[in-house]
Amino acid sequence: MTGYIVGALVPIVFTLLLRSSKKLKKRGVPVDVGGEPGYTIRNSRFPSPVETSWEGISTLAELFEQACKQHADKPLLGTRKLILRDVEVTEDGRSFEKLHLGDYEWLTYGKTFETVCHFASGLVQLGHKREERVAIFADTREEWFIALQACFRLNVTVVTIYASLGEEALCHSLNETEVTTVICGNKELKKLVNISGQLDTVTRVICMDDEFPSSANGRWTISSFADVKSVGRASPVDADLPLSADVAVIMYTSGSTGLPKGVMMTHGNVLATVSAVMTIVPGLGSKDVYLAYLPLAHILELAAENLIPAVGGIIGYGTPLTLTDTSNKIKRGTKGDATVLSPTVMAAVPAILDRVRDGVRKKVDAKGGLAKKLFDLAYSRRLSAIDGSWFGAWGLEKFLWDFLVFKKVRAVLGGRIRFLLSGGAPLSADTQRFINICLGAPIGQGYGLTETCAGATFSEVDDTSVGRVGSPLPCSFVKLVDWPEGGYLISDSPMPRGEIVVGGPSVTLGYFKNEEKTKEVYKVDERGMRWFYTGDVGQFHADGCLEIIDRKKDIVKLQHGEYVSLGKVEAALSISPYVDNIMLHADPFHSYCVALVVASQHAVEDWASKQGVAFTDFAELCEKEDTIKEVLSSLIQIGKKARLEKFEIPAKIKLLSTPWTPESGLVTAALKIKREAIRKAFSEDLAKLYT
Ligand SMILES: *[C@@H]1O[C@H](CO)[C@@H](O)[C@H](O)[C@H]1NC(C)=O
Ligand SMILES: *[C@@H]1O[C@H](CO)[C@@H](O)[C@H](O)[C@H]1NC(C)=O
Ligand SMILES: *[C@@H]1O[C@H](CO)[C@@H](O)[C@H](O)[C@H]1NC(C)=O
Repeated sequence: MTGYIVGALVPIVFTLLLRSSKKLKKRGVPVDVGGEPGYTIRNSRFPSPVETSWEGISTLAELFEQACKQHADKPLLGTRKLILRDVEVTEDGRSFEKLHLGDYEWLTYGKTFETVCHFASGLVQLGHKREERVAIFADTREEWFIALQACFRLNVTVVTIYASLGEEALCHSLNETEVTTVICGNKELKKLVNISGQLDTVTRVICMDDEFPSSANGRWTISSFADVKSVGRASPVDADLPLSADVAVIMYTSGSTGLPKGVMMTHGNVLATVSAVMTIVPGLGSKDVYLAYLPLAHILELAAENLIPAVGGIIGYGTPLTLTDTSNKIKRGTKGDATVLSPTVMAAVPAILDRVRDGVRKKVDAKGGLAKKLFDLAYSRRLSAIDGSWFGAWGLEKFLWDFLVFKKVRAVLGGRIRFLLSGGAPLSADTQRFINICLGAPIGQGYGLTETCAGATFSEVDDTSVGRVGSPLPCSFVKLVDWPEGGYLISDSPMPRGEIVVGGPSVTLGYFKNEEKTKEVYKVDERGMRWFYTGDVGQFHADGCLEIIDRKKDIVKLQHGEYVSLGKVEAALSISPYVDNIMLHADPFHSYCVALVVASQHAVEDWASKQGVAFTDFAELCEKEDTIKEVLSSLIQIGKKARLEKFEIPAKIKLLSTPWTPESGLVTAALKIKREAIRKAFSEDLAKLYT
């Protein structure tokens, strides 16, 4: 019992002591800039945008070489040994691949550098010319990193493509950039072979896996990664180092509409982001272990994997499907990546953190009884402590709850996580709190776009407010400009509001071979600073922190003239336990909204069994009127609580039983919904909802 009493006192005392000092912290301050008039904020610690955190270093190639010299004998890259590949067949006949993976096998910095040099030499010996482009098309893995650094040393531009990209987009990206060499895995090679007829410029393929079809078609030479290395070892070639302004990467983003666009990033652009992130992760250094599993074709992961070597840290590779002991592809009874690696730092996209949260909740609910009561109590105690003041978090009570309850949760990710980086999409307040509390680690939430090389804003560790994306990164200025049509002005009170425009050295060169679109959204001001118009709408709080409140193209005007912000409403409603995913649909010819809701199987079946609703399968359950009524009433309740207007809350919904996945093309690889694709796929259902 003493624990509870002490626990009750500690946070109160801390709260009283520290509440007053907390309000004073200005994280961003106004700054005078050129270009279109607006309201501009910079990071309060950095008067001018940071270009590099390392003296004399102006490219990623230099940064990597310096790191390898400084830490030659330390481990850098680790990959788990495959012990067994198994196929399990479920009762209904579906088969799943299950892996038994062993320990990490490490490459030192020195060895990695040597391998990079060999691979670079091999690439040249194979006939790749330096002005030609290489595409890397694979899941995140050690070879990806090595190939990337090898290209950097040759001043060869790398085209990155999401491994989950569809055929048409893949073809378009390779065609547009006239790629001659594709470096890929076995799985991706099969995709390539399928479209080889449409790829005129590709002449060689380097496969990262040992087994691959050696004669895919008559036109390509296919080599193994190992062969390229040994060719290079036998006949070394000098490096041809790039300059800061040379294009390092052309990154194809899976846009939510149309064909993907290639964003041209210079070494200087990425280095600015890497330098900025370096200053905001507290105490980042050679003791840190980073679990790399997000797509390297995403700028967040690419920046992180360039940063870790620069601080002497360790990178261990994993995959989203083998992350934890209970992940889909992990053979039962064997260990997930996080358990084996015990990382200290991880990057994540919100969808993955949502899954961690749901997984923990499910486990706790399943246990029930005392365990659940204890968890709920601990959670609510921690929640009120954090809401009072972050510093209450260091109290004795925290220690007790950590020991009694959260230690087990932490073990899911290896037990040593001290910092989480989240980006790609806004994190729900609920998940942010949940992860803060259960993992005991702060989440640095970033806001940025591929076009700004992930640069824009970042929430600082001691900022426990939720729903905001923080103050400008040290490499960025963030400006709001009026958007009168949407009703957002910088003169708005209580806060200036407007379209978010990002300026600074991380703002990329523009879209490859698409000058028109580049001119539309990139501007260079009279002082020479580059600005990118994001299309997002935000407001600045008094402490210089940004909050995203809308997206220009996601606002729809209803029949009677009310504006509905689709993203805002979806974010609010998605906290319903019944919702796995949701797309709100508004139509200018109607006065109300409707929604497509992907039902959370666990929650809906739970409800059904409690209500005694009989069903044979989940799809049938989702069709039932009672189920739809229950989910809709949950949405209405949540909508009211979130103070949504009546016209914003969907009047009718369609309940779907199949999740939206990147493979189905309904969400992006970063798991953002693709409105156009979903509207098309469910056009009949949407039409029915309006009858
Ligand atoms: C790097 O390559 C680009 C494109 O081929 C070229 O324009 C640039 O001059 C090269 N940089 C150096 C330092 O040679
Ligand atoms: C790529 O280029 C080839 C030849 O120029 C053409 O036949 C093909 O349709 C193009 N594919 C795409 C997706 O642009
Ligand atoms: C190859 O193309 C066929 C037909 O278009 C398709 O069914 C198949 O899934 C494709 N294979 C791969 C590996 O993408």
